[in-house]
Amino acid sequence: MKAENLKLNGLLEPIGYSYDHLTFSWENSGEDLDDQQELTVTVALDPDFKQVVSQAACSASDNLLTIDPAFLESKTRYFWRVQGTTFQASSYFETGLLAEAWQAKWISYAEAGQDAVCFSKTFASQKPVKSARLYITGLGLYEASLNGQAVGIEYLTPGYHSYDLYQQYQTFDVTHLIQAENELEVTVGNGWYKGRFLFDGGFENIYGDKQKLIVQLEINYEDDSREVVLSDDSWNCETSFIKENSIYDGERQDLAAKTEKLTTLVLNDDRATLTERLDLPVKPVRVYNPAAFTDKNGDLILDFEQEITGWIAGRVETAKKRVKFTFGELLQDGCFYRDNLRTAKQEFIVDNIEQAAFIRPHFTYFGFRYVKVEGLSEEEALRFKGYSLQSEMEETFSFASSSAKLNQLLSNVKWSQRDNFLSIPTDCPQRDERLGWTGDIGVFANTASYNMETRAFFANYLRAMRAEQLALGGAVPVFAPYPKIKPFEGINPFLLGGAVSVWGDAATILPVTSYRHSRDKGQLKAAYPLMKGWTDYILEKDQAHQNRHLFDFDMQLGDWLALDTGIKGSVMGATDSSLVATVYYWLSAQNTADAAKILNYQADSAFYQKLADEIKAAILDCYFKGDDLNLTPVTFNSPTEQIRQQMAQGFAGQKIATKVDTQTGLALLLHYRLYPSEAARQKLASRLKERVAEAGNSLTTGFAGTPALLHALSENGLDEEAFDLLFKEDSPSWLFEVSQGATTTWERWDSLLSDGHISGTDMNSMNHYAYGSVEDFVVEKMLGINLPELTGDTWTIAPHFTSHLTWADGTLMTANGPLEVKWVRNGDTVDTMVTLPPRTKAVFVKQDGSQCQLKSGNNLFSETFSGNSTAAADDLKEAANEF
Ligand code: BGC
Repeated sequence: MKAENLKLNGLLEPIGYSYDHLTFSWENSGEDLDDQQELTVTVALDPDFKQVVSQAACSASDNLLTIDPAFLESKTRYFWRVQGTTFQASSYFETGLLAEAWQAKWISYAEAGQDAVCFSKTFASQKPVKSARLYITGLGLYEASLNGQAVGIEYLTPGYHSYDLYQQYQTFDVTHLIQAENELEVTVGNGWYKGRFLFDGGFENIYGDKQKLIVQLEINYEDDSREVVLSDDSWNCETSFIKENSIYDGERQDLAAKTEKLTTLVLNDDRATLTERLDLPVKPVRVYNPAAFTDKNGDLILDFEQEITGWIAGRVETAKKRVKFTFGELLQDGCFYRDNLRTAKQEFIVDNIEQAAFIRPHFTYFGFRYVKVEGLSEEEALRFKGYSLQSEMEETFSFASSSAKLNQLLSNVKWSQRDNFLSIPTDCPQRDERLGWTGDIGVFANTASYNMETRAFFANYLRAMRAEQLALGGAVPVFAPYPKIKPFEGINPFLLGGAVSVWGDAATILPVTSYRHSRDKGQLKAAYPLMKGWTDYILEKDQAHQNRHLFDFDMQLGDWLALDTGIKGSVMGATDSSLVATVYYWLSAQNTADAAKILNYQADSAFYQKLADEIKAAILDCYFKGDDLNLTPVTFNSPTEQIRQQMAQGFAGQKIATKVDTQTGLALLLHYRLYPSEAARQKLASRLKERVAEAGNSLTTGFAGTPALLHALSENGLDEEAFDLLFKEDSPSWLFEVSQGATTTWERWDSLLSDGHISGTDMNSMNHYAYGSVEDFVVEKMLGINLPELTGDTWTIAPHFTSHLTWADGTLMTANGPLEVKWVRNGDTVDTMVTLPPRTKAVFVKQDGSQCQLKSGNNLFSETFSGNSTAAADDLKEAANEF
């Protein structure tokens, strides 16, 4: 019996993080632990647990425990252990400065703003060192080294957050780097802080026009004395070999540049808004060797065979005047292509390489599969490798099946997640956007949380959302962080603080989804004000609009990018935006009620449950006539609808034929069970079936409807229709992308046309994760792996078999170890093996609805397959060998 993978707030051995709650968790995959047993979690100041500062008990079945952080002192290493009668395991964490005032001051320079500057300081340290900690942050982005050694293995620090509201600093253990004579060097580039960023051409100096830095290095000696090195006017500041740099445009370096001394300036800037980090380290997680070819334009191209987010790096052996790399995600007609990046240049240029040098970018990143190389021969270019950068997270789900295309789809979904989980969850990693669009992550959060342990990553993003919500008076913006741009004529309305449904609802979706996957009440409690704030924000507006509980006012994005208007390139779908917004309003009220219930906030729980019920009643009243859908609801005359029609006129010069009985409208009502009767449910389901058939057995849903579509079909006796959509290979479909050679998921169903040409360049990325939300259908329906309900403790394993596959096999990492479901279809028989980790309650649901308890270890079930078998005889033979 042992406990492993000990984490605090989802982090392994964190140093200097922000701890607004302390949730200790561990994996316990041993068989011999009695669930009735009480486990003890002890926190102490020493590794021998003699100076105990906190102790609490939990049930062995929980695998996690949240305690109050009130006892935490600054700059302290705490040791913690979890203990049962037959085992114990320990780990540690460390605090940063907490409430202690900074001794150091922010420094900058007096001259005009530079693209990158290097601050440095020499100091002696003559006595034996016991420990040394560097508390540091630099804005825009910084890289620090001590005596030529990199401080910390992470890049793009301090990450992207709402710099105008708070500044995250990092704490590094630098004990091993201190010498008798030292030089601390910190290069600071533009980054999100002052480099060109945001769409519509971008803006410079969004948060500030000069880099700044704050450093407090504390050295504790063996003789108990202490020395502190602080950023102040004794620091040197000079220009850097890193010239132009920005998130979108890339970086230019001049290796022969003469450094110029700048005048260090001590700033009196507020230090009260400095806060410990929540941002996870961004690290190179995978390395790729490219293939090289010459394209039809005669350009030398490296192909990394996978679209990644990150860099390339390598050695140049001989002198070069200029080496230039340009990054793109596509080839078109056999040529390197990058028009869909809009204004983002995505270039890495190194000038004046005078001798052999290892080169890499520092203050930018690229979304790419292909790299055009200038100034190097093919042989020289092939010395470069691709490094995929992402926020460090544990991967928790693996999948394989008899369909190579489905397997590729799931790989693409995971890659779009890896590529867009860089500091914050972004919409895309390549064009001039790369923003934390809330709607995108809201619809993808469930899938994301199967693929990876997202808890700590979401905690950081939720902090940004909450800070922006407070700054915007309750509204959750369409992206977070949310830079505040001074209004000007013609400003894009997205930059003016408007909150819209589905996007803002990420405020309630993320915390509840994260809780469902992690059971971390500490995190849920920390996120609760954000959830409540958002629901209250809509409620207040609702009350100002006669309290009808219909969200049919303001501009809405509706079912973004749906295909059902018949208007080519339209970003708006045909579904009544008020219906979409009201369903999500209901969802947010319900999520807030559920969270309040879990947290035992009884008054809130009753209040938001009542609100959710009332919204549901309003939906039934507005959108149904008896058991039938009301096809001409009053919301067709709403302010939302008027704004939407104006937008449609502006975009396409024509009106949208708004409907409620679209695939999206029907799927949302069915999936969330928003109907008045069983008869109504059946009518909705048969209408949905018709809608799919009318579209040529195709989906037409956008961001809002897609996550619900296959679930809604499958939950209403339409498995075959759901699987047919999943396995469809012609456009529009998930596997069409795979057939076109995609290695990530696209932004639009028709990002590429059947002839391989791009459908448009104004908003078209090959690496958006929203439609990857289909993976949770594969997990929950195809494999049948269903997490316990929010207030329950029992997993439901209820696989749905399909004639499109002969076998499927998925493994999800749980707190008790791996849970695997594998089914093999052989003729009319399907054998399912469920391998259940120890101490896990689960039931198996057969196709006929009968249930049985599962035991830990292997559970084998044989059933008669009730669908149509279309598999070839060879497939079946192969499958028969699987068990
Ligand atoms: C982004 C989306 C986002 C949308 C909302 C786009 O430009 O890439 O993914 O959700 O705008 O308007």
